[in-house]
Amino acid sequence: MSLKYTNSFTVEGGNFEKAGIASVEIKKILKNMGINGDTLRKIAIAAYESEINIISYAKRGVINVRVTPDFVLLDVEDEGPGIENIGMAIREGFSTASDTIREMGFGAGMGIPNIKNCSDAFELTSEVNKGTHLRVLINISGS
Ligand SMILES: Nc1ncnc2c1ncn2[C@@H]1O[C@H](COP(=O)(O)OP(=O)(O)OP(=O)(O)O)[C@@H](O)[C@H]1O
Ligand SMILES: [Mg+2]
Repeated sequence: MSLKYTNSFTVEGGNFEKAGIASVEIKKILKNMGINGDTLRKIAIAAYESEINIISYAKRGVINVRVTPDFVLLDVEDEGPGIENIGMAIREGFSTASDTIREMGFGAGMGIPNIKNCSDAFELTSEVNKGTHLRVLINISGS
């Protein structure tokens, strides 16, 4: 299996002015590679929700993107408070978002559930006071 593309995008915690820059860039690159339709839509959602979560909750993070002929892997690692209860965080509607974050329109508790719904394989691990590691694999379908 030959690797087609790999790159890393850093995301700064707390910087909402730059929210969406990494995920829009990722979407653009993958679109230019010929990935489209449902596959592109799922990758864009997963990248965007991951980026917003880093900005909302972590100090800093990186979205590693790896594309093979068969799948796209988003490997998202951050340094931050971590997630105390992964089981809760995966549930629809669970959120610890601050008022400031909610005022910006986030905090519905739908980001992680959305990422999971878009994934063909999903892995979320975390260490409290260290950080969070999210791995999302999306198969490249013929669309
Ligand atoms: N990278 C992260 N670091 C620490 N905690 C996180 C991180 N990502 C998510 N969480 C925790 O998991 C909860 C659920 O995340 P999720 O993205 O599903 O919802 P949300 O960010 O609260 O709201 P929404 O994504 O709908 O705007 C968050 O409220 C937060 O407590
Ligand atoms: Mg979120």
